[in-house]
Amino acid sequence: MIPKLGSCYYPEHWPEEQWRKDAEDMIASGLSWVRIGEFAWSRIEPKEDVHNFDWLDRAISILGSAGLNIVMSTPTATPPRWVVDKWPDMLIVDAEGRARRSGSRRHYCFSHEGYLGEAIRISEIVAKRYGSNPFIKAWQLDNEYGCHDTTLSYSDSALKAFRVWTSKKYKTIDQLNESWKNVFWSMEYIDFEQIQLPNLTVTDPNPIHALDFKRFSSDQVVKFNRSQSQILKKYTQAPLIHNYMGRITDFDHYEVGKDLDIASWDSYPLGFLEDRSNRSEDFKSKFMRFGDLDFQSFHHDLYRSVGNGRWWVMEQQPGPVNWAPYNPEPAEGAVRLWTWEAIAHGAEVVSYFRWRQAPFAQEQMHAGLNRPDGAKAPGLKEASKVFAELNNFDGIDQVQSKVALIFDYESCWAWDVLPQGKDFSYFELVYDYYRALRSLGLSIDIVSPNESNLSGYQVLLMPGLMHVGEQLESAIKGFDGVVISGPRTGSKTLDMSIPENLPPVVPRINGTVARVETLRPNALIPIQNHGFFKKWMETLVDCDEIIEFCDDGRPAIIGDGKNLYIAGWADQGTLKVIFSGVCSDQGIQTTELIDCVRVRDTLNHRFWFNFSEEEVAVGSIKIPASGVFWEQL
Ligand code: GAL
Repeated sequence: MIPKLGSCYYPEHWPEEQWRKDAEDMIASGLSWVRIGEFAWSRIEPKEDVHNFDWLDRAISILGSAGLNIVMSTPTATPPRWVVDKWPDMLIVDAEGRARRSGSRRHYCFSHEGYLGEAIRISEIVAKRYGSNPFIKAWQLDNEYGCHDTTLSYSDSALKAFRVWTSKKYKTIDQLNESWKNVFWSMEYIDFEQIQLPNLTVTDPNPIHALDFKRFSSDQVVKFNRSQSQILKKYTQAPLIHNYMGRITDFDHYEVGKDLDIASWDSYPLGFLEDRSNRSEDFKSKFMRFGDLDFQSFHHDLYRSVGNGRWWVMEQQPGPVNWAPYNPEPAEGAVRLWTWEAIAHGAEVVSYFRWRQAPFAQEQMHAGLNRPDGAKAPGLKEASKVFAELNNFDGIDQVQSKVALIFDYESCWAWDVLPQGKDFSYFELVYDYYRALRSLGLSIDIVSPNESNLSGYQVLLMPGLMHVGEQLESAIKGFDGVVISGPRTGSKTLDMSIPENLPPVVPRINGTVARVETLRPNALIPIQNHGFFKKWMETLVDCDEIIEFCDDGRPAIIGDGKNLYIAGWADQGTLKVIFSGVCSDQGIQTTELIDCVRVRDTLNHRFWFNFSEEEVAVGSIKIPASGVFWEQL
């Protein structure tokens, strides 16, 4: 596969006379894809049933004739004001019960039937018009589901739909009472119509009530997306794509992905470091111009899995963004570095956000590939450099990794509902495992918790997985590699209770979690010959085999050499020792990397990345400052 580059473009933001030159400049810069239309609803349908497609017809024809492949979008992330006036109760409602307002974007509630109808209607109109347009080579549905905290809605529509959802799931109210164990605190219902949403309760709602609400909310996203994909498939053969976001876990992306052909995500390394990372201040200062070096690749690997092997970066940060607490400029070379990294992880297309910085409205301070006056911004030169470098390759193809790491959205929700200690985050736990693996020079596949085929893998990691489902259980039973689990793996039933025989309910692990404790930030539990546990610690008893102990005598790692259960949240050093030991037993080579270097293997190449402004050496390999080095395998 030869990866391609592209950019996001808004013809409606610029005078028509400029479109042709913009298109020609894109081509001259090495870009061959352009995404349009995702926010253009008020221009294509300024009033109910009044349509104005002429300008868009011309834009598509100009961009396409210049040689660009177009990603057309459905505009449903930005319902215009007249739609809100028509359906005043379509607005998303926050947990405090306040309707969020129009005037920005994503203000709709996924459960509002009227809005769902509008979204299907406008998608069909756009699909009918452009479904067979030869310049349109892919479709984007909506824009960034869940972004700006927009998955969960506590509206009347959500309440109504949740009651239907629970009645379908549990069939009878007695069954729901039994599964939810509503006898606790006299929460029993006599009718589904009595069920409320789990917000504004005096103290915690029943965790299964909250978890089911999250499952329901995720299903609403899946349903919304499916309704558009079904319409689009009637009118187009082109692949369907959604652009997911970084660290948004409120809906099950694997499930949404089943109705699409390609996954994509919007990669803003510097924005994410400042806005949604728990790394230390020192780390943030050190990497302020590169971003957290594992965060992007984690999402690349995740979305490769969500897209079943096919994925893009739909929006790549090209310069300073506007939305994080601090918005530094990328290091010189960082845009090229991020692009190469995405390519090494399998991106078919890397598309930059956006072609030209808008001098107006909310994102006027957000850089583009070009300045508002049309002059080239630094990111464009770096994109063009990647384009030129791609000529050195006959193809860049992916190869299955030896190590698989499970990421499970349901576990995110479960531990969000029942963290037990304020620092417990499933995302952070899995991410810590990922970081340790990556800093050992390993390439990782992220897999879904419903994976049924583990062949080809030698190591499977599943920290914090709340429940091992039947499919995974049978896959593990037939798996002859090493399985690493814990803490918290297999510790809940699907009804969010403690399993009858106590956790961990993990195939091939014999032991019992007798108690758990969560720890203050400065309370560390030393592990013999290793580092320490932090945040979370389990007291395991009745273990068949104990591999390591804590200084206080409690088991730290149990199992045999092929099945390991880790009893707490281990520090990076400990994880690295455990993982490198397992890899060496399996004949998998590891290399301890310095903190600014990462490596990724593809079928025929090894790519080395340097996230620092100094040249670094790894053995005989020299990686230029802010650079990438590749070698043939
Ligand atoms: C993304 C979004 C774009 C733009 C961009 C700015 O989240 O999809 O429309 O807002 O962020 O960084």
